[in-house]
Amino acid sequence: MAQERYFSETLFPELEPLSIEVRPERSGTFADNLSLPVHRWFRYPAGFSALWVRQLLQRERDRGRRRVLDPFCGTGTVPLEAEYAGPEAVGLEAHPFLVRVAEAKLHWREEASLLRRAASDLVALARRLPPIAEEPSELLLRCYRPETLQRLRQLLRAWQEQVSAWPATLSALLWLALAAILRPCASVGTAQWQYVLPSKTKAQVADPFEAFLSRVELMADDMSCWQRQARDGKGRILRGDARTCEGVPAGWAELVITSPPYANDYDYADATRLELCFFGEIERWRDLQPAVRRHLIRSCTQHVSALVQETDQLLANPLLAPLQPELQATCARLEEERLLHDGRKAYHTMIAAYFLDMARSWQALRRVTAVGGLVCPVIGDSAPYGIHVPVEEWLGRLALANGFHSWRFEPLRARNVKWQNRKHRVLLQEGLLWIEG
Ligand SMILES: C[S@@+](CC[C@H](N)C(=O)[O-])C[C@H]1O[C@@H](n2cnc3c(N)ncnc32)[C@H](O)[C@@H]1O
Repeated sequence: MAQERYFSETLFPELEPLSIEVRPERSGTFADNLSLPVHRWFRYPAGFSALWVRQLLQRERDRGRRRVLDPFCGTGTVPLEAEYAGPEAVGLEAHPFLVRVAEAKLHWREEASLLRRAASDLVALARRLPPIAEEPSELLLRCYRPETLQRLRQLLRAWQEQVSAWPATLSALLWLALAAILRPCASVGTAQWQYVLPSKTKAQVADPFEAFLSRVELMADDMSCWQRQARDGKGRILRGDARTCEGVPAGWAELVITSPPYANDYDYADATRLELCFFGEIERWRDLQPAVRRHLIRSCTQHVSALVQETDQLLANPLLAPLQPELQATCARLEEERLLHDGRKAYHTMIAAYFLDMARSWQALRRVTAVGGLVCPVIGDSAPYGIHVPVEEWLGRLALANGFHSWRFEPLRARNVKWQNRKHRVLLQEGLLWIEG
């Protein structure tokens, strides 16, 4: 696909030029955001490209679409870009930790010098604190050297002691700086996309006090930069569920830019297990279900392990009628295939629950999207046990069944092309599902 060079002169004549390209094949990835002010504060590999969002917001703003919704907003890429580019946006997110990250990023208008001063006071206090005596969770013991963990916990204790002395904006920003250094300070592999890898050790480990101060420095620089450049847009984060879109008025959204979970067994709750353990939100793996997973779209097998006996009931739900009989046939094949594999993953239940949840999301989206609105989800298909599930087509059909007018899929990149990572040989794709209504 041809690459489109993006300079901010073309989009925002009054802003300083950016020399970063919008590369369509990277629209669905976080790669661009790693070098973009504010977006880079917390590395969230499930996020999509802020530059691509910026370009789309600009195009649609010029066509008169100024109220934007992201019902699966993750770490807030769309609401943040709306603040930068001018329109008004609401982001819904159901994962409590990610809601907190996204909300903190929206405080970029805070005074940078105040953040620097509060951070240096916090580190001074942390250095003075006596060692924290309570026994940490086993995961933390496996991920950190003892002296590193001690310092991280001193930072957290200092934050807790000071939190009521700062304005809420500052304490949220300082909390985010701490959350963002947890993985760089770990002595084991903690790539977010692959969860936590305590069996892989790292040669270089950052010191928590230094890492914290340098993260705050980066944030303060980015705040000053955006305060010079950004327009006066308005972004808001709501902790909420895309299956109801509660809190969003009927017909409010003129544009929806989003990326729902893919039906690919990725566990968004487990992906943040380290952070949740550190901040005391969970103690062990089994706490993930009540603390996080139950709020989310059912896109991983761990989420549906208690529902296997109810698969037929899920499939019989009238909201799934537009996909029958193909959905039933695919789930039956997955159920048979399951018996041939160790682990016996309940993909058949996961796929049934996933499409039911997504059908509910389309119903809710129809309610909150204005007539004539445009909906653009970034979406990828999947092939559990090598059985292809045409996610884009089925989501398109569900959108029509719920009152939208048309759908069209624009492929952006092939997935599953790295031979060594392949669990099956089905080629997968990621792209944009344009829905008009
Ligand atoms: C692909 S990620 C979106 C990332 C986002 N575009 C960004 O740039 O950060 C999908 C998000 O949907 C969230 N999610 C899952 N189920 C949800 C639900 N029922 N309601 C709202 N958000 C949900 C997940 O927690 C995850 O952050």
